Amino acid sequence: MQIDNNRYVLSNGIDPLELVEKYGTPLYVYDTAIIERQYKRMVNAFSVPSLKINYACKANTNINILKFLKDQGAGLDAVSTQEVELGIRAGFAPDRIMFTPNCVSLEEISTALQHGVKINIDSISILEQFGHEHPEIPVGIRINPHIMAGGNSKISTGHVDSKFGISIHQLPHVLKIVEATGLRIEGLHMHTGSDILDANVFLLGADILLNTAHHFPHLEYVDFGSGFKVPYRNNDVETDIEEVGTKISERFNEFCKEYGRDLALIFEPGKFLVSQAGYFFVKVNVVKPTPSTVFLGVDSGLNHLIRPMLYNSYHRIENISNPGGKPRIYTVVGYICETDTFGSNRKIAEAHEGDILCMFNAGAYAFSMASNYNSRFRPAEVIVHNGQDYLVRKRETMDDILKNQVEVALEVDELQNA
Ligand SMILES: Cc1ncc(COP(=O)(O)O)c(C=O)c1O
Repeated sequence: MQIDNNRYVLSNGIDPLELVEKYGTPLYVYDTAIIERQYKRMVNAFSVPSLKINYACKANTNINILKFLKDQGAGLDAVSTQEVELGIRAGFAPDRIMFTPNCVSLEEISTALQHGVKINIDSISILEQFGHEHPEIPVGIRINPHIMAGGNSKISTGHVDSKFGISIHQLPHVLKIVEATGLRIEGLHMHTGSDILDANVFLLGADILLNTAHHFPHLEYVDFGSGFKVPYRNNDVETDIEEVGTKISERFNEFCKEYGRDLALIFEPGKFLVSQAGYFFVKVNVVKPTPSTVFLGVDSGLNHLIRPMLYNSYHRIENISNPGGKPRIYTVVGYICETDTFGSNRKIAEAHEGDILCMFNAGAYAFSMASNYNSRFRPAEVIVHNGQDYLVRKRETMDDILKNQVEVALEVDELQNA
């Protein structure tokens, strides 16, 4: 979204205030032009014989986003059988869906298997059980390379204390299971975390995974996961995807020569594809000065966008009702009964009650983490595509809150009431 003639506009000149007028607040809006730009950037950054981009749909599971990325050529990274089913409903071919769950039972993996998707196993115990039950089905394994990377501890997934993956030091045990069960390992995978800036971290991980790969003669792919950092602030740094692409492609092509044949190189980005494409529009309910702070209380909270409270993520906040207004210092908070601060002491154009604020980078891990806490409705979602706007999720109603609740007649002891 840019400022044009003192007003914010989305791609194709769409006025976000008109969308807010039409659909109300709080409102998520996704711009497909940005998703397409990011997808193409990613594809163009690598030069290997076979590149597969699997969209990590946990970032944003609106089925229209899945369909849009499928049409761009993406596969899917799914972490639950429900995501697998969404992917199938969106039209992904089962063999373009990679099921990479963490700490799930063999039953859940077997359910995914019935859909014909690719399986990626992340524990020794499940690998062994899977090998005994389905020795004829090739699988991938998720390796934990023991690299500390990622924007914060909650999104660092490849270090020695992490619950994710099979430790690289357990390789001898993996090899014994493979030999004993006859299991065919068709892929190696790692994902060291999110918000990783340094291209060398990706290279270090690649080195570890590719050195390990020589132990497995039947590989079809190597999956380097994701974790690319996107810009959150004005002029913020981001992973230099072109640098990562050049360096990893070189290293990967070298590896394929040593290995004796070309394998597919897979990445599974979430944030990189959809974070910047999303905007979250909220209305200022109250301007509330206290002795030390001026709060802007908005018609949303941690129930709709929990990232700032969960792991201190930064979302740029602008007052789109008054783009040219004098900058003032505000703390933007929600209406939930915990302290749910979206941003502290932010410089924002002077705001009045009824103004519309935009929170940026709201395309990834935003709606998909939303809840009905405080019995609030989850917001509507709109996609803008080629100059048109489409409602792609209705705002919830009281029926949604009550949908699965079962009202029963609980007998109360009369004496207790006396
Ligand atoms: C296994 C796996 N792959 C891919 C991703 C996507 O990461 P990002 O959104 O940083 O691209 C995640 C994020 O949690 C993940 O756990």
